[in-house]
Amino acid sequence: MIAPDLALHATGIAAGYGDARILHGVDIKVIQGTIVTIMGPNGSGKSTLLKTIVGLVRHLAGTTLIRGRDGQPVDITRSKPYGLAALGLSYVPQTANVFADMSVLENLQLGGLPLGGGGALFQQRLATVLELFPVVSGRLASRAGTLSGGQRQMLAMARALITDPVLLLLDEPSAGVQPDFVDQIFSKIREFSQLGLSVLIVEQKARQSLAFSDYAYVLEMGRNRFEGTGRELLHDPAIIDLYLGAGRKPAATRTEAQDVRILP
Ligand SMILES: Nc1ncnc2c1ncn2[C@@H]1O[C@H](COP(=O)(O)OP(=O)(O)OP(=O)(O)O)[C@@H](O)[C@H]1O
Ligand SMILES: [Mg+2]
Repeated sequence: MIAPDLALHATGIAAGYGDARILHGVDIKVIQGTIVTIMGPNGSGKSTLLKTIVGLVRHLAGTTLIRGRDGQPVDITRSKPYGLAALGLSYVPQTANVFADMSVLENLQLGGLPLGGGGALFQQRLATVLELFPVVSGRLASRAGTLSGGQRQMLAMARALITDPVLLLLDEPSAGVQPDFVDQIFSKIREFSQLGLSVLIVEQKARQSLAFSDYAYVLEMGRNRFEGTGRELLHDPAIIDLYLGAGRKPAATRTEAQDVRILP
């Protein structure tokens, strides 16, 4: 069962590629309408976790439950990616997240296929996402491959949002993006969450992502290592040493840091 306040609850997730086991029993919760970040070193299994949730990689153990568009709990442990849009889940992968040889509009039309083609509903959603992403709306006829890194990320998010999801999974939306655009991307994500969207985001820009997250998990070698609210982790000495850089320690009050759960 999934608790009434949760948008996603993944428990005991084990997964890998061939004989290589990458995830060894990971637990993640996303409370509805919140932003949850997954951090961790390169190769710790963050992308594999998202791929497992969306069914691109098979669960070897564990269960993934979401709350679907209609508010009902759904077990997606054995679901395939193409069925998830109808349930209200959208996913933006870390790489190859736009079709470079297609136009920006064609990319959005592809994202809108679950809405049943180019009908009134698609046109209405298209207008909404173009309003959210003016950068994209100015480039509809351009080949997606000609967009800058930040513009591509905006297009990938616009495409993911066109189905009006209730749960959005983003894998490093700020990768390869100029600092100006990173702030824009983060503030867009915050806007969506204020509208009730639940967001699970993998992000390497630790300081910025913790500052804007409601809750965060740190993975290490395919296992949960730390978790806490963004604020708690920002002030935790271990997180500061490992991820935020020593010497830039925020003026923390220890009462916050003491609440951080350091998992065995
Ligand atoms: N398709 C694949 N086949 C085999 N091994 C893979 C595959 N994809 C990832 N791996 C391996 O799984 C491990 C975890 O990779 P993953 O991409 O999940 O890490 P990550 O935490 O997202 O890293 P990064 O921060 O670099 O994006 C790595 O050792 C990687 O080499
Ligand atoms: Mg990754």
